Order: sequence, then structure tokens, then C-alpha cells
Amino acid sequence: MSQAKVNLYYKNVMAAAIKDEHGITDAQFDELARKTEPVIAEVNRQRQAGRTPYRDLPGNKDYPAQVREIVAEMQEKCEIFVVLGIGGSALGNIALQTALNPYMYNIDPAQRKGPQLFVFDNVDPAQFGSFLEWIDDRLDTAYFNVISKSGETAETATQFLIVRQLLLERYGPEGCREHIIATTGTKQGTMRKITDAEGYRSLEVPDGVGGRFSVLSGVGLLSAAICGIDIDSLLAGAADMDERVSRPDFKSNPAAVNAAINWHYYHRDKKISVMMPYAYALKDLADWYRQLWAESLGKNTDLDRKRVVVGPTPVKALGATDQHSQVQLYREGPNDKLFTFLQVKTFAGNVKIAPPPDCAPELAYLAGKEMSVLLNSEKLATEYALRQDRRPCLTVAFDEINACTIGQFIYLFEVTTSIAGLLFNINAYDQPAVELGKKATFALMGREDYEELAEKIRPYSQFDTEFLV
Ligand code: PA5
Repeated sequence: MSQAKVNLYYKNVMAAAIKDEHGITDAQFDELARKTEPVIAEVNRQRQAGRTPYRDLPGNKDYPAQVREIVAEMQEKCEIFVVLGIGGSALGNIALQTALNPYMYNIDPAQRKGPQLFVFDNVDPAQFGSFLEWIDDRLDTAYFNVISKSGETAETATQFLIVRQLLLERYGPEGCREHIIATTGTKQGTMRKITDAEGYRSLEVPDGVGGRFSVLSGVGLLSAAICGIDIDSLLAGAADMDERVSRPDFKSNPAAVNAAINWHYYHRDKKISVMMPYAYALKDLADWYRQLWAESLGKNTDLDRKRVVVGPTPVKALGATDQHSQVQLYREGPNDKLFTFLQVKTFAGNVKIAPPPDCAPELAYLAGKEMSVLLNSEKLATEYALRQDRRPCLTVAFDEINACTIGQFIYLFEVTTSIAGLLFNINAYDQPAVELGKKATFALMGREDYEELAEKIRPYSQFDTEFLV
């Protein structure tokens, strides 16, 4: 296993560093430790009691073995691998691919060790239509991984129905069995029913593991493995972080410190949490984090059934790109944000900057330097600038980006979320507010038993021209 590590650096939230009234004093940090240590103990107890089964994914040997078996069956023929899923059934897949495979992976056969990968997490007819047109004469080498815990999700069901029909018409039921792999709930649900009836190969979304905590199960592992990502290292990295985030001592537990600092700032008018990777490879992990944080912590009822209305708002930015789009606001706008930078010490590749033409000596300072030096200087420069305006900044430092450090990062933020959930005293594992929109979609699309809801929505269905300008 790689020795590279992911660490959390928090000096720049401390009062001594940012001199802001909201900077955390040593006494406040000790107070956070006192508040959080019983929460760490409770999170560990919940894990022992089997109430947070996502915690056991890094050590599970069955899931990677099942994934490897399916990969071995497909590998020879598969040139195009398509994931159909949404939310927790897609964001982890996208994040792993962007993080761990080269930027030109899909374009350049020389840069890839597996099939081209497409992840569809929407029902945009223009986008999907264009894909269907392209795939039509490549269908023979295409495999489709439909990922849906419930199988009821309208977006994934729609994509699946279209693809199934295409395969049926071209190859018959045998073709569907060959080209579709279902990743779905173990016992019940529409997708499990279809999988059993039609005889697809399948993987499990483990019981009790919600979509946003499922990337280290068959949900994320299959597309990663077929695309050449080292899933053993990914899981080993998560297992390594498991030891660190289970430590009962607050100050040596990075998830506890991360959760407590986020919780502290939420209660000091910094309700927005900006994650800003300084590495293109990490940009989709910020998207994955956005869902994890938002769906887990945005709740209106606490564990004592009291109405609370809490939840930090996660925002994604990309360094250095968004320095030229967001940093004006971040420095001079409201001081209502906590920043988490993701920083990489050694990049997968490096590029030396070329010398300028004679007429532009003012660019000579760049010549001969590595691009990574520029990117990391920009991170430091932005953090320095934010500090001048007393904006609190955390850094998650990657020694390098590889499967092991990505596994560490994923597990760090999953357990951070569990600890933050208990600090906020809410259930981090449900998403009741997502349901109404799903049901309203059923109603609008004419699903049986949703007629009453459809009636309620009808008045909203027309633009009232009085308000149309
Ligand atoms: O995190 C979650 O639970 C959600 O984002 C789900 O993954 C998403 O709604 C898709 O659900 P399903 O996997 O049942 O299709």
C-alpha cells in the first residue's frame, strides 16, 4: 500500500492565526474537544452496534471479489462502460474517475487501461439523445451498469427502460442479460425485482448504506475497477483512515477536528462551507462532498423531534479557476464562509513553463518553473489573501493523488459527516425532504395512486401570464 497520506491542517482557523473575533481560541478548542469526545464515543458505539454499516465497507472482502468476477467476465469485450444512476448512485463514480484516471482517458486509448466511461446522472433529452445516436453502432461492446438502490428513481428508471429496449430489439433477452449489470438493494425494490425476473448479473447496495455513503461498495467499485482503478488500494486507504477517525482522543482524530470546527463556525455566522480543490483531479470529489454534506446535515427536526432547521450550505469552487470568479466575493463579501482547500504535494504529472518571447520579459519569472509550483503558490496566495480579511481556512493536504489517498479522503469525510450529524443532533442518514419532489414527479408523470397529489400540483403547472414579462 502507498505510504502517501491525507492530513487536515487547521492552524488558519485558530484565533492566533486569523485574528478574527470568530477565530478559535485555545480555550475554545479545548471546549470543542470536551464536547466532541463523547460524540466520537457514540459514533464508535453506533458502528459496533451495526447501525452505520458504511463503516465496514473498507474491510469487506466479498464486494471487491464480486466486482472482480464481473470485471473478468466483461473485460475482453467491453470497450464502453456506461453508468446509469443519480445522486449517491453516480457522484462517487464520477469522482473516482476524475481523481484517478488521466484527464484524456476517454479520448486517448493510449492513456487508458479500460473501456471508455460515461456516467449519466440526468434525464436531459438532448444529452441522452446524442449519446444514443453515438452508441447505436457501438452497442456490441457497450455494457450498462444501472445503479439504483430502490429502482424507483424516475431518472435512472427512464434511462434503464430506454437502454433495455434498445438491447432487447437488437439482441433479445439474452443480450440484456449480457449487457446489463444491476447494482441495487438486496431484497426488495423494483430494480431487484426486474434483476431477478430478467436474470441480470448484479451487485448489492448493502442494507443500511445510503447512496451518499455507498461509493466504497459495488456502487462505486465496479466502474472504478473496470476502468483500471486499484480498488484494493482505495479500500486500504479507507481502512487506514478508519483507524485514525476512530481514535477516542479528539486532537488526534481528523474527522472529529474537522466536524467540530465546521460545527463551531456554523454557530458563528459562517453557515457556508466552501470546498476548493487546487487540483483538477479532485474537482468532482467536491461535488460528491456537496451531496454528502447537504443531504446528511440539512434537517428541520433534531433527534429529540424538536424543530431545528439546521445545515451548513456546501459550495464547490475550483482553484485556480474560481480565483477569477469567486474570490472577490470571498474576500470582500460577507464573512459567512469557512473555506476548505484541498492541496496536493506531488501531482501525477508535471509540466515545465517555457520561456517568454524577447518582447515580454515581464513573463520571465514563470520560465523554467513547474506548473505544480504555480498552482500551489496560487493556493497559498489565495489563503494568504483570505487570511488578511480574517476568513477561516482549513486545508486537506494530499501527499499525492492515488487510490489510497482518495480512499482516505472519502472515509475522512464520511466519518466527519457522522460526527457532525451528532454535534448538530440530527439524523445524518435520512433525506426525507427529497421524497416530496420524487413523489410529485410520479404524480406529474401519471403514476397510479398519485392522482390526489397531481391535483394539488395542477394549479402550479401553468405560467400565470399576469406575472410573465
Ligand atoms: O444518497 C442518496 O440516498 C440519494 O442521493 C440516492 O442515491 C438517489 O436519490 C438515488 O436513489 P436510488 O439509488 O434509489 O435510485
